[in-house]
Amino acid sequence: MIDENRVGAGALAADGVAAEDVLAEVRALRAGDRPTHGGRLFAYVYDPAVPGLDDLAAAAHQESAHVNGLDPTAFPSLLAMENALVAAAGWVLGGGPGTTAPDVVGSVTSGGTESLILAVKAARDARPEQVAPRIVVPGSAHAAFAKAAHYLRVALDVVPVSPDTLRPDPTAMAAAIRPETVLVACSAPSYAHGVVDPVAEIAAVAADAGVRCHVDACFGGWTLPYLRRLGTPVPPFDFAVPGVTSISVDLHKYAYAPKGVSVLLHRDAALRAPQYFAYADWPGYTMINPVIASTRSGGPIAAAYATLRHLGDAGYLALAERTRDAVAALADAVRGVDGLRLMADPESTVVCFTATEGGPDLFVLVDELTARGWHTQPQLSYAGLPASVHLTVTAAVAPRVAEFGPDLADAVAAARAVGPVRLPAELSALAAALTPDALTPELVVGLAAGLGLAGGSDAGGTPGGGPLPERMAVVNTLLDAAPPALRERLLVEFVGLLQRPAW
Ligand SMILES: Cc1ncc(COP(=O)(O)O)c(C=O)c1O
Repeated sequence: MIDENRVGAGALAADGVAAEDVLAEVRALRAGDRPTHGGRLFAYVYDPAVPGLDDLAAAAHQESAHVNGLDPTAFPSLLAMENALVAAAGWVLGGGPGTTAPDVVGSVTSGGTESLILAVKAARDARPEQVAPRIVVPGSAHAAFAKAAHYLRVALDVVPVSPDTLRPDPTAMAAAIRPETVLVACSAPSYAHGVVDPVAEIAAVAADAGVRCHVDACFGGWTLPYLRRLGTPVPPFDFAVPGVTSISVDLHKYAYAPKGVSVLLHRDAALRAPQYFAYADWPGYTMINPVIASTRSGGPIAAAYATLRHLGDAGYLALAERTRDAVAALADAVRGVDGLRLMADPESTVVCFTATEGGPDLFVLVDELTARGWHTQPQLSYAGLPASVHLTVTAAVAPRVAEFGPDLADAVAAARAVGPVRLPAELSALAAALTPDALTPELVVGLAAGLGLAGGSDAGGTPGGGPLPERMAVVNTLLDAAPPALRERLLVEFVGLLQRPAW
């Protein structure tokens, strides 16, 4: 029975809130976020620091926010902008008229994960005779491949990367291909370390086996070609490489478009065909979807279109140059600090470093950098690779880069003074002994409260309501001590504690 006296809850106000007050609320909420602009955030956000670009993208988004990508015939504006984005991506990645891949086609998706899921779906559905399809990926491939495999019930064969080169051996990739393999994938570059896989060799072994080869250029597909034009040695990775059948590139990364836009390209329309989902067997409209979403806002697509048109080829070249110089300066800063070493000499737009023997505790260092206004991303140790600190470098970092070196040295000194995190014995024992199945929600609530995570309790006394602690070294150390399956379960439970209705 509906209680007539009930008034709204959470976002639903009883009487509606005045526009300026609502905006003030949003701004107040945003004040607690990491700074998206200013060149001090090294993950999640891609900022070119081009004056006026945000306003242009927001205006374009507004123009098309209510347009629905569900039916391209009803909204030809969206179709035109999508086709223009696909042509631009195809051109940047070595396809189109006058190239060896003149028949490139593509789709605009909501992000890298969706592009990868669709690349796997297209490969799977092109081989319907395979009842137990499999894909081969390097150990450094983005987690979205694992998600795709999980969602699509495709088995994942992971080929380890060398701890020295951080790349997979093409011979090992070849050996992992089985009769059931429908796709071989590689990265250009990998997210974690920013290294470009041996794409030509991997595409060749895939072609020899008659298997599709996807290049995940979600992260760097928009910068590598410009870096190459600036003189950086970039190995072949795009449609110029025989055997590459599809490539993904995220416009919401280094094309600097607002979030929600990636492009999945196929070498030709026949390769793309199994990506579509069509359904006419119901009384409503026939559903023809090239991507996972059905109803789609035109907003992100229009914003991406405006961003590309405004920056232009010359703009991207200039931004790549600025980014390249910032990467070099950051890498030099790391090289200049005793106790740190680069995981790899930067070859794209990632700087990734780890601690040397006797160096500072990396997780404490990350907290010390945060305290100095630098937001970096800790990466846990994995499969023989040490824990590391990841910096995604964008053009906005360039003006700040001179400040980073002294702050890094200072943060390392502070981390050494603090000393390494020592987990309480019972927590270490727990991390080592606990199995994912034994992890009950109650145990996680206790653990979260003990670690000061999920805020202990909110006003209503429910765990999970308060702010997160500023220092995460203990949490990261605990996670680092846990095997991946336990990390997954712990974090699912932690995030579940955070995601509760705000009544
Ligand atoms: C190489 C690579 N692939 C895929 C993705 C997934 O992209 P998204 O977060 O847009 O889904 C990322 C994200 O960082 C990435 O770096």
